[in-house]
Amino acid sequence: MNTKIIEIKENEIDGEKIKEAARALKEGKLVAFPTETVYGIGANALSADAAKKIYIAKGRPSDNPLIVHLANWKDASAYVKNISEKAEKLAATFMPGPLTMVLEKRENIPPEITGGLNTVGIRVPCHSVAAALLKEAKIPVAAPSANLSGKPSPTGFEHVREDLSGRVEIIIRSGTANVGLESTVIDMSHEVPVILRPGGITKEQIEAVIGEVKINRGGVREKEIPVAPGMKYRHYAPQGKLHLLPAAGFEENLQALRMGLEKAKQSGKKTAALVPSEYIEALNDFETFDLGKQSDLEEIARHLFDGLRTMDLKEIEEIYAISYPEEGMGEAIMNRLRKAAGQKSMD
Ligand code: TXA
Ligand code: MG
Repeated sequence: MNTKIIEIKENEIDGEKIKEAARALKEGKLVAFPTETVYGIGANALSADAAKKIYIAKGRPSDNPLIVHLANWKDASAYVKNISEKAEKLAATFMPGPLTMVLEKRENIPPEITGGLNTVGIRVPCHSVAAALLKEAKIPVAAPSANLSGKPSPTGFEHVREDLSGRVEIIIRSGTANVGLESTVIDMSHEVPVILRPGGITKEQIEAVIGEVKINRGGVREKEIPVAPGMKYRHYAPQGKLHLLPAAGFEENLQALRMGLEKAKQSGKKTAALVPSEYIEALNDFETFDLGKQSDLEEIARHLFDGLRTMDLKEIEEIYAISYPEEGMGEAIMNRLRKAAGQKSMD
């Protein structure tokens, strides 16, 4: 397949280009597009065939359900039912934005989209290109992250090109994702809603609006249909081995980083540290990737996937990373780092 690249800038929406991409979606084609979290591969969410194409393009198991993207929350009732008051409140507060709500689906969403589940994830992205595309297409758009299954999600156009050239009809080229980690997925079908995947909207932000929510950190057995089907697959995994150091202060972290890096180096392995700016100078005799200021967890989140992909491009065999406090954005960062370290049972 020949992949066409269309450039659309976030602050300069070109209506003709949006129309071209929207037409492709309506014709059942695959269009990779930017969102504020990560780039996604879009397809018509009302078509079972389009869904199948996504699974093939990503090399993804078909029991892992897709998120349905809408231009407006008010369109949601056409695709989901029994929308609770809490769901309405979350939508009013965080949509458009990096939040996905899992709700009971209607018949028009084919089972191929939801991996056979009777629920579907609904998200209204706030990126200007995504919003314009959805508005123009006038169809719900299923879109998983635009990476090959098992690779870190793409936060920049180059990441998408690396993974999907020749696998999708169109890639919309735009800037780097502002959030950098995927949306928070919250299951609203329980009295106390359950966060299935921490992400761009924090547990604290959600609780401030609707009170108590749970967070699912448990694993699943391979054979059952899991609550958050994505959990059983290895995600965000770099080719090299990621060593996630236990939570500690600066001096202790630095010592542990030096010890690990030195040991790997002596055994002839290519090694690097994926760390906040504060550590870079002290580690200047080693390869490093600067994630940004440690105190600014939003910045760390924004750079994390690029860091993991850079490790692969440089063929790093042993990667060292520090832990972050598991609150606010730290929860999502630690979730992705744990997955990258190969701890499959965490989500
Ligand atoms: O930020 C995002 O959410 C990005 C952008 C492109 O919008 N999309 C994304 O999609 O991350 P994907 O398919 O890579 O991840 C969707 C996650 C998976 O872990 C999946 O298991 C979970 O959401 N999920 C989707 N629908 C679900 C459902 N009905 N029940 C439980 N979990 C669901
Ligand atoms: Mg994904």
